[in-house]
Amino acid sequence: MGPDSYLDLVRRARAAVGVPVIASLNGSSRAGWTDFARLIEQAGASALELNMYHVPTDLLESGQVIEARYAEIVEAVCRTVALPVAVKLTPYLSSIGHFADQLVGRGAAGLVLFNRLLEPDIDLSVMKLTDRLELSQPEEMRLPMLWIAILSGRTKASLAASTGVADVAGVVKYLLAGADAVMTTSALLRHGVGYMSTLVDGLRAWMEEREIASLDDMRGMMSLLRSRDRSAYSRANYIRILGHYATP
Ligand SMILES: Cc1cc2nc3c(=O)[nH]c(=O)nc-3n(C[C@H](O)[C@H](O)[C@H](O)COP(=O)(O)O)c2cc1C
Repeated sequence: MGPDSYLDLVRRARAAVGVPVIASLNGSSRAGWTDFARLIEQAGASALELNMYHVPTDLLESGQVIEARYAEIVEAVCRTVALPVAVKLTPYLSSIGHFADQLVGRGAAGLVLFNRLLEPDIDLSVMKLTDRLELSQPEEMRLPMLWIAILSGRTKASLAASTGVADVAGVVKYLLAGADAVMTTSALLRHGVGYMSTLVDGLRAWMEEREIASLDDMRGMMSLLRSRDRSAYSRANYIRILGHYATP
């Protein structure tokens, strides 16, 4: 899909649905972001997600340089459009919370945790790299859930959870960790768009069973700030967990 057809998709989506349309802009270099962000705004998007997909294969490029570039891009886009801007983060940062704060300082209104890199495999039968897209598995929720829980209530940005939602339990867990919004791509590709109703109805039923009246009442209940066992989120539990390991 080229840029023009993407803009057309945003326009058509905006005309067709009654919910806000969040556009997503994907790239890795400095160029192009602001011009295209402006066009996306004009096309009628309600918000914009920036996905800075960069795999730092250059060993001379430091983390500091990469983070500074990300922050610059976010600031430039936020100055260009009036839309709320979310940043889809990579988990491969030394200090995710600190960087999140910096992005908020540059104007980001939301953070999406996390981007999922397409890690190639090696096909031994033909001795080639495979670039087949694998849909996510529920186990992959653990890393984004950890960081949602650590950031919840401690950043001004709203937090969107992304990766590994396969069922209602996945949605519930991300909300309890502190997500403001929960995203899923793989589940909808597996089961079709109608699966969204299954997730929403299932969430409603889960809440009703426990007499939870609103999402705000459950959101962040298990976050680092509100959890009874804060050490579970840090290394303090490491030794105990290793000690309790039992061979399956
Ligand atoms: C077919 C397909 C297309 C995708 N296209 C994009 C994209 O254009 N931009 C983006 O930021 N992420 C894209 N993603 C990644 C998803 O947004 C998401 O980060 C990833 O699939 C993990 O979340 P999930 O467990 O909900 O699938 C794509 C994923 C799939 C499976």
